[in-house]
Amino acid sequence: MAVTEGRIAVGKVADFADNSMMPVEVAGREVLVVYQGGVFYALEDRCTHDNGILHDGELLEGAVKCGRHGAKFDLASGKPTLPAVKKIRLYDTQVEGGILYVKYQER
Ligand code: FES
Repeated sequence: MAVTEGRIAVGKVADFADNSMMPVEVAGREVLVVYQGGVFYALEDRCTHDNGILHDGELLEGAVKCGRHGAKFDLASGKPTLPAVKKIRLYDTQVEGGILYVKYQER
């Protein structure tokens, strides 16, 4: 099966407020972009516990909390707290020319 990879421009860096979450679509996937402490993170926007929409949850220091049953996902590692047990998928981000890109790879 072919490997498809690339990057999608999701917006101007200057348009992201600190401590913000923004849902975007990247190659047909729901991705949540988080900007916190001068760092961009991108993770799957669906909770690994029972598909809660993470951008309906809460942004904490270094983590996103699912609004359904309270699982928290570490922004840097994707590690969950209960009731979720599976890591969230993370995407690489890239800033170039003042534009934020989210990179993806499908197999
Ligand atoms: S769906 Fe997210 S904690 Fe249950």
